[in-house]
Parts: sequence; structure tokens; C-alpha cells
Amino acid sequence: MIDLPGGWHGRAPGRVNLIGEHIDYLGGPVLPAAVDRFTDVRGAPNKEWKVNSPIKGGVDYVRAIGEELGVAPQIVNVASDIPPGSGLSSSAALLVAVARGVGPDIDGKQAAVACQRAEQKATGVQVGVMDQFASALGQRGHALLLDCATLDYRAVPFPDELVIAVIDSGQHRNLAKTPYNKRRKEAEEGKNKKRKRHVESETQRVHEFVQALEERRFERLGELLKESHVSLRDDFEVSTKQVDALVEQAWSIYGCLGARIMGAGFGGSIIALVRRGSERIFAAQMGRPVILCATADGAYVTTS
Ligand code: GLA
Repeated sequence: MIDLPGGWHGRAPGRVNLIGEHIDYLGGPVLPAAVDRFTDVRGAPNKEWKVNSPIKGGVDYVRAIGEELGVAPQIVNVASDIPPGSGLSSSAALLVAVARGVGPDIDGKQAAVACQRAEQKATGVQVGVMDQFASALGQRGHALLLDCATLDYRAVPFPDELVIAVIDSGQHRNLAKTPYNKRRKEAEEGKNKKRKRHVESETQRVHEFVQALEERRFERLGELLKESHVSLRDDFEVSTKQVDALVEQAWSIYGCLGARIMGAGFGGSIIALVRRGSERIFAAQMGRPVILCATADGAYVTTS
């Protein structure tokens, strides 16, 4: 990608979520990690907002974050190795990359919140802050235990013995056309028993998962992923038959500790944790493209 005269550059990673699904917008704890797939943006002032991007609707995202940050119109060229629709939050990476490019000195937490608002504005989906936060402040070698109520966070070491695998179900959807906002409302109201049970059990699982990571009880991590999937499937009702089948297939493969639906759901992707050394066999047995990821630094993390 060529530099635009008088321009700026930003770069931000995609993310996975290890556990803590559909609780960020309730102020719950979540455990995402930034991963080693990146979006690069190069921009410069322009008469109007213009984006050359492989990500659909890219201009809506870029304009929305520009406006959030009070920036005049720009032309922005986007290059990314985060496959759109892969479940790695290419939209959060695009937003955070632009924020980092035009606002390198902004505080990382403020940038994440601005990106969350921009995503809500661009899509009409009342997303939480998890994806943007992980892309901004994730740390290599770690997952982030983020308290979405206070935005306090702590980096939890991610063991070298485990590999993160992400598998696209092929069931792609526009979140604005799914019941995402409806689920959020039901969860906020707290009247629906099943939704409430998911929120409470998932919150508990995040803490247990962190403890198991710290105590290196890998089998327990797998069990918690499975329990999370069952809860998202039966209580929060955000899975699909196709995704359930994929998750069950992953569960049955040697070397796979556990797997679950990841992100918003209603299709989309699954995450699996696989013992290092078994990842190639795992990918071969899944019989469809598997993205193997390593953790990475977020856009606002400066390492010496
Ligand atoms: C999407 C949203 C996040 C979060 C997840 C579900 O990825 O962007 O804020 O709500 O769904 O956990």
C-alpha cells in the first residue's frame, strides 16, 4: 500500500473471545485476546469520506469513527489479512486502526469506547465494548480479563502449550438483521429465566476459566468452553444447527480440549482450543479452513 501525501498510518489486530459471551453489554467480565491478523490503514485529508476497502460498508465505519473523534473527511486505503466474516472482528480492527492512525495519542480505553460508539452508529447494532477493547489493548502472550462495567483489565498469560483455532461456519449474517439487539434487551430486562441463567452462569465461567488458566488445568478449560456453548445454545439461543454440528465435530477430535460458538452468534464462527502439536491433525480432520492464531499486541500497546 502506498503512503498518501500528508498522510497517516494505523494498524490494529483482530480478536478472539476465549469466554464471556453476550455479557459485555451488561457490564460483565470477558476474556478476549488480540490475535496475529491485522488491518492496515493509510489515509489523508480529502474533500469527502472515501474508503478503498475489502470490508463491506467500510466507509460507514471509517466515517463514524472519524466523526466520533472530530476528524475532517479523509481518504483511507485499507489492507487486511483478517478475512471478513471470519469471526475475528474485522470491523473492530478497521475502526481501531483508523482511530490509532488519526489519534495516536488518545488513551487506549477512550479509543476503544469511541470505536464501540462508532460501530453502534455505523450498524445500528448495540454492541458492547469487548471487540474494540481487545483490538486496542490486547497483549501478546496474554488474554485480557476485562471488566466491562469499569473498563479495568488485567492481562492473563496464555499458555504456549495451547493453540487457538477459529473456524468459519460459512453461515454469514448481517448482525443488524439478527435478534442481537433483542437478546441484549431481554438480558438487560432480566425477566426471561433462560437469558438470566446464561448471564449468571457465563459470568461464573469467566472467573473459573481464568483460574484454570492460571493453574494450568487445561482439561477444565475445555469443559468450560463446552458448558459455555451449551448455555449459548439452549439458554441464550444464539446458535444454529450448522454451528452446533461444527462445535460437536471439533469436540470429538483428538487434541481438541473444547470448542464453542464465538462472538455474536446466529451463525458466524467457532473457537476451539487445541493442544500444541495436534493442531495440524485437528485442522485436517475438521475438513474445512481452520485459522490458527497466536495472541498479539493491540494497536495502543507500545512495547519497548
Ligand atoms: C459481538 C459484539 C460484542 C459482544 C459479542 C457477544 O461480537 O460486538 O460486543 O457482545 O458479540 O459476546
